[in-house]
Amino acid sequence: MRSFFTSLALVAGTYAQSSAYTDANTGITFQRYLDSEGVSFGIAIPETPASDFIGQMVAPSNGSGYAGVSLASEMTGSLLVVAWPNNDSVVASLRETRSGYTSPGVYTASGLSMSPILNGTFVNSTHMAYTFLCSGCMGLTLSFAGNSTSITLGWALGTQSVTNPSSASTASFTYHDGGFGNFGLTLSSATSASYASWAAMATNGTGSGGSISNSTCTSTATNVTATVSNSTYDYIVAGAGPAGIIVAERLAESGKSVLLLERGQASTYVTGGRSTMAWNDTITQYDVPSMAYYLSTASDTSEYCTDVASMAGCILGGGTMVNAMMFVRPQEADFNDKWPAGWKFPDVKASADRLYERNPGTTLSSDDKQRYDQSAWDVLSPFFRSIGYREIDAIQSPNEKTRVFSHPPWDIQDGLRAGPVKSYLPLAKAMSNFKLTLNTKVVRAVRNGSTISGVEVEHSTGARQIININPGGKVILASGSMSTPRILYNSGIGPTDQITTVANGCTGIRLPSQADWINLPVGKNLRDHPIFTMTFNTTANATSLLSTDFLSPSTSNIDLFAKGSGPLAQSGQRFNFWTSMSTANGTRYFQGTCNSPAAGQVRIKLYLTHGATSSGVLGITSDGATEFTTNPWMNTDADKTAVITLIDSLLDAARNSSSLIPSSTMSGASLVSNYITGDHFVGTAMMGSSNDGTAVVDTDTKVFGTDNLFVVDASIHPDLPTGNTQAIIMVVAEHASSKILALGNSATNSSSIATAPKNSTCKASTTSGSRRQPKRRMTTFMRYGV
Ligand SMILES: Cc1cc2nc3c(=O)[nH]c(=O)nc-3n(C[C@H](O)[C@H](O)[C@H](O)COP(=O)(O)OP(=O)(O)OC[C@H]3O[C@@H](n4cnc5c(N)ncnc54)[C@H](O)[C@@H]3O)c2cc1C
Ligand SMILES: *[C@@H]1O[C@H](CO)[C@@H](O)[C@H](O)[C@H]1NC(C)=O
Ligand SMILES: *[C@@H]1O[C@H](CO)[C@@H](O)[C@H](O)[C@H]1NC(C)=O
Ligand SMILES: *[C@@H]1O[C@H](CO)[C@@H](O)[C@H](O)[C@H]1NC(C)=O
Ligand SMILES: *[C@@H]1O[C@H](CO)[C@@H](O)[C@H](O)[C@H]1NC(C)=O
Ligand SMILES: *[C@@H]1O[C@H](CO)[C@@H](O)[C@H](O)[C@H]1NC(C)=O
Ligand SMILES: *[C@@H]1O[C@H](CO)[C@@H](O)[C@H](O)[C@H]1NC(C)=O
Ligand SMILES: *[C@@H]1O[C@H](CO)[C@@H](O)[C@H](O)[C@H]1NC(C)=O
Ligand SMILES: *[C@@H]1O[C@H](CO)[C@@H](O)[C@H](O)[C@H]1NC(C)=O
Ligand SMILES: *[C@@H]1O[C@H](CO)[C@@H](O)[C@H](O)[C@H]1NC(C)=O
Ligand SMILES: *[C@@H]1O[C@H](CO)[C@@H](O)[C@H](O)[C@H]1NC(C)=O
Ligand SMILES: *[C@@H]1O[C@H](CO)[C@@H](O)[C@H](O)[C@H]1NC(C)=O
Ligand SMILES: *[C@@H]1O[C@H](CO)[C@@H](O)[C@H](O)[C@H]1NC(C)=O
Repeated sequence: MRSFFTSLALVAGTYAQSSAYTDANTGITFQRYLDSEGVSFGIAIPETPASDFIGQMVAPSNGSGYAGVSLASEMTGSLLVVAWPNNDSVVASLRETRSGYTSPGVYTASGLSMSPILNGTFVNSTHMAYTFLCSGCMGLTLSFAGNSTSITLGWALGTQSVTNPSSASTASFTYHDGGFGNFGLTLSSATSASYASWAAMATNGTGSGGSISNSTCTSTATNVTATVSNSTYDYIVAGAGPAGIIVAERLAESGKSVLLLERGQASTYVTGGRSTMAWNDTITQYDVPSMAYYLSTASDTSEYCTDVASMAGCILGGGTMVNAMMFVRPQEADFNDKWPAGWKFPDVKASADRLYERNPGTTLSSDDKQRYDQSAWDVLSPFFRSIGYREIDAIQSPNEKTRVFSHPPWDIQDGLRAGPVKSYLPLAKAMSNFKLTLNTKVVRAVRNGSTISGVEVEHSTGARQIININPGGKVILASGSMSTPRILYNSGIGPTDQITTVANGCTGIRLPSQADWINLPVGKNLRDHPIFTMTFNTTANATSLLSTDFLSPSTSNIDLFAKGSGPLAQSGQRFNFWTSMSTANGTRYFQGTCNSPAAGQVRIKLYLTHGATSSGVLGITSDGATEFTTNPWMNTDADKTAVITLIDSLLDAARNSSSLIPSSTMSGASLVSNYITGDHFVGTAMMGSSNDGTAVVDTDTKVFGTDNLFVVDASIHPDLPTGNTQAIIMVVAEHASSKILALGNSATNSSSIATAPKNSTCKASTTSGSRRQPKRRMTTFMRYGV
């Protein structure tokens, strides 16, 4: 598995060099590299280089796909010029390559822009050409320096359609399946006295064959009428991920009316999902546990959110439908270290027990009590035992997190993917005061000062509607740590700069007047587990099932699955270990999630978990996508030191073992900056005891400065847990329900869904952009070990 654009590895001195080339369409003379596949990239710079250059990218094109050039040779953290055809025009975007799983993010630092030179920007029947002035682009850590003699850049081509291709800033693209490589350019020969006249051809306009620059809004605002729903509710819950389903079900148990709104569609077969398997048409790709490692390459990939900073599920069940089913019950320290009073482990224990009663997790998922495909376990358990680790059962002993290993704990029941869609939703659906509405995206909370009166939603048709709560009712956000912040910003809650981006942006959000903005640190304290990958050859006879065994399973395994058993009733992990390390900066925990990716190999995915001190920031773009304005991973020295130390100790042990063979170049130092996201994002609307500038919600999960707006998803977690996030998110949602219920609900229309006498209407401005097809921010390669 590779992350996006990570394969532009530099191998010194093997590239064909560039030569001078004068482009007939523009008259510009470039130093140009032309490769055998017809991809070319040319550069022109002034005689005294500063930070601007003119670039020309030409690539074969049949009208879809994209071409990209990274302005540095490094694997991650390079500026990337990407262009793609959109009907008859070219759209281009300046991105930043990064580690992890997502399509490269829009590069947002100030002072850079790309402006097309229209005569050199076109799509013809065979090629796409993009000629542009890149202002402020040279001499950054992410790009080459203008005074270099020769430079090495990277190119990449993708053949699959760009999603949301009309928008430079929100388009996303898949893995560079059309090829990639590095090339050299003799920059010192790219200078010209004519540079200034060439640069003057750049425009900011669009035209036939024109292109647009980075964050330009792609649509003009038009006013649409938002109707007001004639139904009102005591509680409206935004988002049917694990947190939202649990909270909605528990609130409905009180007898008050509850509306659960979910932007995505049905998922599992029993909920109405119909992404069925070729080998069993009453079961979906979400139901089958073994599909967990193959979902992102499955025939239907509509389950992923397309407008968030990193991968997340936008389907009934949220992350629990796209995740790899690891169910790591939180240890007590996960709460005791940083959660505020009222949320220490003794406080949440009863809530945890209520969760586990319905949704226990298992280390033995196959109904016939057999374990299948165990070669990674067979290799790794003796190895870890030999270096002092003990076997435990991770479901039974959640507090054992140092020098222990376990069969993987999974959220699987009856041989099927479990989680709140299976364990809570049916209970809610049985209540007449509960209603679930799919394909409905909550845009904002409608508020009058501190009081929330309801939510504005967008249906899949693009139509907007306002749904009100009954007087005394409550709105609860549960859209996940990548999406709840957007709803808060759109409601005028968050840092002023983020709300200003919404105000000046393209999404047509009706914000409260500025005097009513509530300045809270939404998006700050973003945290995630980084994952470091170590693959070893093994001397053991490790034969493992491969992708074909899961994607085109044998008749015997299909039959076993029908009985809730066999390898298809397991997720993809085969062995887990945990350990901890005391440092001057506190105890740090690690999780290892392991399998055998191929015969003769075992792989450890090492997560830095609880105790990590790195954090980042989530923001919003003018197109309404969330983005990382600061990456959350590995930005403290103490995190780096701890990771290097642990990797080196594991490698030493492996080199001394008779079973594992690490490559000689692997080391803590070589791996520490090569990580991917754990997809375990928390903290973007953090809980705290007081409104002290660090917290967004109080210990009742209520947003500071509001009377009746709550957040209950991963956003409120002040800290990272020791294991994968879903179990602790469910525990916290259970506990949040009890806090919210304890506040009471003075709404009078209980027990049934209230109906207003007639529809009223109100004007809300929107843009056609807000009705655009959602974009994809994911790649389509396989993923192991989450
Ligand atoms: C690829 C991947 C693998 C993972 N693997 C594991 C694993 O093996 N084990 C584990 O414990 N954790 C794993 N996780 C993490 C775990 O799934 C998440 O931490 C968890 O699902 C978060 O729960 P949540 O309720 O906070 O939000 P989410 O699960 O993100 O749910 C939010 C819900 O809200 C909906 N929504 C979003 N915006 C709106 C809106 N505006 N209006 C209405 N609805 C909206 C979404 O469609 C979604 O259904 C993984 C995550 C990913 C992405
Ligand atoms: C493009 O991005 C740069 C850097 O963020 C910004 O300064 C510039 O205004 C943007 N251009 C447009 C047209 O939005
Ligand atoms: C673009 O090409 C057209 C036709 O060849 C020419 O008339 C025009 O001057 C060119 N524009 C520039 C800015 O060179
Ligand atoms: C399309 O443009 C490319 C790049 O300028 C050129 O090489 C190619 O010949 C053109 N194809 C046609 C059919 O004009
Ligand atoms: C190139 O420019 C940078 C500053 O942008 C400077 O630090 C460096 O010394 C220069 N190198 C050469 C070879 O002139
Ligand atoms: C295009 O617009 C950006 C942002 O306004 C500006 O920085 C840049 O100089 C403009 N480019 C040209 C060629 O006008
Ligand atoms: C939208 O409607 C409001 C009020 O009806 C009006 O003031 C505004 O000009 C309209 N905006 C557009 C872009 O039509
Ligand atoms: C409320 O609206 C629904 C459609 O949204 C309609 O079917 C129903 O009859 C309406 N009820 C009343 C009382 O107006
Ligand atoms: C390796 O294991 C497989 C499956 O258990 C077995 O079929 C094969 O004979 C073994 N090979 C050797 C060399 O032991
Ligand atoms: C499909 O899977 C379901 C659930 O596991 C099972 O009950 C059914 O028998 C299976 N059907 C076939 C044809 O295997
Ligand atoms: C450890 O923490 C202390 C204070 O908490 C800080 O000053 C120091 O820089 C940290 N050390 C590392 C290596 O991060
Ligand atoms: C691992 O095994 C592969 C295939 O047998 C071999 O090509 C590679 O060199 C081995 N690597 C090490 C470090 O032994
Ligand atoms: C209320 O609005 C819905 C559309 O949102 C419409 O279908 C329904 O007929 C309206 N009901 C009344 C009573 O106007």
